[in-house]
Amino acid sequence: MTLEIGKDYAELSAKTAEIILEQVRKKPEAVLCLAAGDTPRMAYQMLAENARATQLDLSKCTFIGLDEWIGIPPENPGSCASFLATNLFNPLAISSDQTFLFDAMSRHPEDECRKMDRIIQSKGGIDLILVGVGMNGHIGFNEPGVPQDLGAHLVALDDITKNVGQKYFDQHTPLGYGITLGLRHFLESRKAVMIASGEKKAGVIKRALQGPITREMPASIIRRHANAVVVLDEGAASELT
Ligand code: F6R
Repeated sequence: MTLEIGKDYAELSAKTAEIILEQVRKKPEAVLCLAAGDTPRMAYQMLAENARATQLDLSKCTFIGLDEWIGIPPENPGSCASFLATNLFNPLAISSDQTFLFDAMSRHPEDECRKMDRIIQSKGGIDLILVGVGMNGHIGFNEPGVPQDLGAHLVALDDITKNVGQKYFDQHTPLGYGITLGLRHFLESRKAVMIASGEKKAGVIKRALQGPITREMPASIIRRHANAVVVLDEGAASELT
């Protein structure tokens, strides 16, 4: 695992955007799985600006959804689908046949999980997975206690995730379950990138990178990945020794 520390959020975002750009330059038909959430927002803006300026062709890429709130429709601005459309797919002119997201409104969410496992397999696996880190150490919706051999699965969300998740919604929104790729997908991805910004994440980053590798701290699994990069800003790195 390599560690890169930018001085602030803008530098972290520039480094993150460059990692994704480099992947697409190297393999134009890359299979990408990119998180939603506040942390990658500026990286996606920078990615879109750079791709436009350099006329980088992303039309052969495939985008796999990392996770979604069960019961939240894609039109809801707080959904991961809406975030990805607004911040990534629309600015990059990604067509809908390039994107494979969880249908969180499905009456058969278990089938959605198996479908996503099959899609990833049929695409030859994920080239690059980019995850943020939750305040409880989750990556995707892999909550504390999750086994590392799971593929896509349904999850009863942790209280921290349900509370922190309110920040994505205009009004209080009951959140109960999530649907997510599993740690198996994370570990099998050819490259894994984890990003975190700000002092509020410093404690969790300290535990993830310098505490025990344990299922109670899902983000710590990145240290088992053979080709992983962690990108932080100085705030998120401030408790590392
Ligand atoms: C979102 C996701 C979550 C977030 C994490 C950090 O698709 O998978 O695991 O990455 O909760 O969220 P932010 O970036 O908002 O701090």
